[in-house]
Amino acid sequence: MSKIILGILVSGRGSNLQSILDAIHAERLNAKIGVVISDNPEANALKRIAGFDIPGVCIERKNFTAKQDFEKAIADELNIHHVELVVLAGFMRILSPYFIQRCFGKIMNIHPSLLPAFPGLDAQQQALQYGAKVSGCTVHFIDQGIDTGPIILQEAVPVLEEDTVETLAERILHVEHILYPRAIGLYCDGRLCTENRRVRILQEVEGKGDDENETGLD
Ligand code: GAR
Repeated sequence: MSKIILGILVSGRGSNLQSILDAIHAERLNAKIGVVISDNPEANALKRIAGFDIPGVCIERKNFTAKQDFEKAIADELNIHHVELVVLAGFMRILSPYFIQRCFGKIMNIHPSLLPAFPGLDAQQQALQYGAKVSGCTVHFIDQGIDTGPIILQEAVPVLEEDTVETLAERILHVEHILYPRAIGLYCDGRLCTENRRVRILQEVEGKGDDENETGLD
C-alpha cells in the first residue's frame, strides 16, 4: 500500500509532531510527511525536522490582511506537496469554513480533553477548575465548530488531588503521543469510516490494494 502524504500544521513545541516522526521512523505508520507548516517562525516544531528531508514552511498570519488569503497560502502549500491528510499538531488557530470545506474529512486534530468536555483553549485548566476527576485526550476530524468534529479515538487520564495545570498537561501529553500516531495510522490504512458523526474503525484487511485507498484532498 502506498504511503499517505501528511501535511502537519504546528504553532509551538512540536512534541506531537515528534511522536509522528518517531512512528514513521519505526515503520509503525504507513505515511510520509510532505510538509510541515508553522504560523510561528519561532516554533520549536520546525527545529524538529532539521536534518530530515522534510520541507518546513512558515506562513505568518500578520503577512495577510484577510484570513482567507492566509488560509489560501496554507492550502496552496499543502497542494504543492500533494498532501492527502492535514494533521493539526498544536496548531493554535481556528480554521475558517473556507479552509475546512476545501479539505473536509481530511483534517485531524488532537485536543487535550475528553470532548465534548472542555473544548477551546486551556483545556487542562478548564478540567481542573471544573473539578473533573477524569480528563484525557481526543483525536477527531475537524468540522466547522470548535472541537466538535467526529471523534476518532479517546483515552482517559485520571486527575489527581495534587495536580497542577502542568502536571495534568504532562500526563495527558504522554497519552497524546501514543494516540495521535495510532489514529493517523488507522486513517492511512483505510480503516476509518464516518457515518453521520460516528467514526467506525474497520477490521484490518490483509493485502489491501492501493486502488481502494483514494484519499487525495481534491
Ligand atoms: C497538545 O497538548 C495539544 O493537544 C494541544 O496543544 C498541545 C501542543 O503540544 N492542542 C490544543 O489545545 C488544540 N486545541 P505540542 O506542540 O508539543 O504537540
